[in-house]
Amino acid sequence: MLTPNGGQPVLYENYSGELIDWNDFFKKREEHIELMKNGSSLPACKDCFWIKSANWDERKNEFRYILLNIWVKCNLFCIYCSTHSDKHVIENTKEYNIIPVIKDMIEKGVLTPNTKIDIAGGEATLDKNFDELLSVLINAGVKNININTNATIFSKSIQEGIKKGVVSIISSVDCGTSKKFFEIKKVKCFEKVWNNLKNYSSNLSLNSLNTVRTKYIILPNINDDKSQIRKFLLKSKQNKIKGVILNIDLHWLRQNATDTKTMEKVIDLTRYFINISNILELDWQVWAHIEDLIKRYNSLNPNNKIDINFIFNKTKYVPKNFIEKILNKVNIFL
Ligand SMILES: C[S@@+](CC[C@H](N)C(=O)[O-])C[C@H]1O[C@@H](n2cnc3c(N)ncnc32)[C@H](O)[C@@H]1O
Repeated sequence: MLTPNGGQPVLYENYSGELIDWNDFFKKREEHIELMKNGSSLPACKDCFWIKSANWDERKNEFRYILLNIWVKCNLFCIYCSTHSDKHVIENTKEYNIIPVIKDMIEKGVLTPNTKIDIAGGEATLDKNFDELLSVLINAGVKNININTNATIFSKSIQEGIKKGVVSIISSVDCGTSKKFFEIKKVKCFEKVWNNLKNYSSNLSLNSLNTVRTKYIILPNINDDKSQIRKFLLKSKQNKIKGVILNIDLHWLRQNATDTKTMEKVIDLTRYFINISNILELDWQVWAHIEDLIKRYNSLNPNNKIDINFIFNKTKYVPKNFIEKILNKVNIFL
């Protein structure tokens, strides 16, 4: 989260594939929690918007959630990526095999069938251990694996995981036209990505909870226009995508903490995104950084506060004149 101090407590640093003493690890977590219980926030969490007063629930020595960021390879060069300013970050990333520690975690019961796993990076599907990683997790009975993939390369392992009902994907397409795609990602494979996504989607079974979603990160001055958003949502609909996600470029958010004009534009685009998604019956989500942006806007404009609930409220209210205005454009695409 966007705290002034970075916002992530660290329990283990400089990791390079070795097995971990989990008792020590969870003891350290307990120490962190005790500190928070005593009212002293951890340095990394100081001034975080998300700190709240609540009871700590019982915690076992196991992970509820793991994010695996695999920074070994990527075949795109997205302008908003944290690696974009340093071309060599991927080639300089020290590679190690993650399979032994994952197997150890499963054996020791700290990674359980209920652990929710997110895989991101880099482009994880390009890692030589990716197929094995996925099969180790699936064979251990993990039920909720989400993979962030750019979908430029079709992965049979992902397809199998989707069929089994345990793998979901999120693909950050961020635009609605091939021209904009090239501008943002520097590679010409807009249609190929949508084809692969459609193919993944067609492997979803009716009753399972896993899903295929696309994401749109608002990049101020690059894709912050309604026509791109509308075309993105229509492409998602045409390609049988189940859900759509909206977020804001968090680098922009960090660096432009007081730019209320752009914040207003982002909030307007967020309403537009929700309205069109409702019309197209796409399951939408607005992610926490936009929530953060609205909270920040409200703290800068105490007399003109925006009710944040519209980004959570899924009742399908769309203003009538809005539908009339938009329907022609939508029909042309459908
Ligand atoms: C770094 S990407 C790489 C994963 C994968 N190759 C992909 O294309 O989805 C992982 C996720 O982080 C998100 N992300 C990357 N940079 C971001 C930024 N500046 N602001 C917000 N989200 C970002 C992307 O949308 C993506 O879903």
